[in-house]
Amino acid sequence: MLNLSGLSKSFGGLQVLQNVSLMIPERGIVGLIGPNGAGKTTVFNLITGLLLPNEGRIEFLGRELNGMAPYQVNRCGVARTFQNIRIFKEMSVLENVLVAIRPQRNHSPARVLLSARGVRHSKQREEELARELLRKVSLLETADHAAGTLSYGAQRRLEIARALATAPKLLLLDEPAAGMNPVEKQQLMNEIIKLDQSGLSILLIEHDMSFVMGICKQIIVMDFGRVIAVGSPEQIRQDPRVIEAYLGREDEPDSTYSERPA
Ligand SMILES: Nc1ncnc2c1ncn2[C@@H]1O[C@H](COP(=O)(O)OP(=O)(O)O)[C@@H](O)[C@H]1O
Ligand SMILES: [Mg+2]
Repeated sequence: MLNLSGLSKSFGGLQVLQNVSLMIPERGIVGLIGPNGAGKTTVFNLITGLLLPNEGRIEFLGRELNGMAPYQVNRCGVARTFQNIRIFKEMSVLENVLVAIRPQRNHSPARVLLSARGVRHSKQREEELARELLRKVSLLETADHAAGTLSYGAQRRLEIARALATAPKLLLLDEPAAGMNPVEKQQLMNEIIKLDQSGLSILLIEHDMSFVMGICKQIIVMDFGRVIAVGSPEQIRQDPRVIEAYLGREDEPDSTYSERPA
């Protein structure tokens, strides 16, 4: 479904990605792990058009994404969430999802001029869709609350609902469980498993090993801007290069992320 070949990226003199190639199959949850600074978020930024690679090719469902703007990548069917939450805190939870829904065809200027009733009807349909998405991430009860008043975990789930509002085929999640408590993590795992069952493909960056190992069939490991291992959770757990990358360092991956807002 997604094919990255030979991606390299430097910032000034700092090479943060070196010849990264990976394939994400249609259907399923793939984990992307690696120590802090390995280049995982940069991979997401290249896929989604926020950054341009210095070298390499990004292909999604046979189309080349290189050079596309983020909104164009999104229209091709790729949506993402961010490591640092990006929502509209003053707007209601429902409004946050509504503004992310792509205008329907019958919202075209001609139709709008032709029929006020048509607009009302499609607005109503969009609201139904937004509520359905909120239900998927267990936020329906908070639809009318200001988004900024939600708990940290709930704000992360709202970001997922906003990403889903663009009707993606592939969802990129950047540390969705960061800062969540164990109950919220378990709930999020169940929701991600349900998204997988509904036919979405998911690429998941996550530091919590039991989270990744619990829901991913395939795991890709990065270190110092390279892919160092690809395999099942069982293979990854036993891979000497992975153990070295995680244990041969002082910065323990699980303790580096306590990214709660003050
Ligand atoms: N926009 C940027 N400008 C300069 N350096 C960056 C930028 N984005 C990321 N980096 C650097 O690239 C490296 C990889 O970062 P990142 O992709 O965020 O890693 P990860 O998500 O695996 O923790 C880090 O050294 C980071 O400081
Ligand atoms: Mg990151």
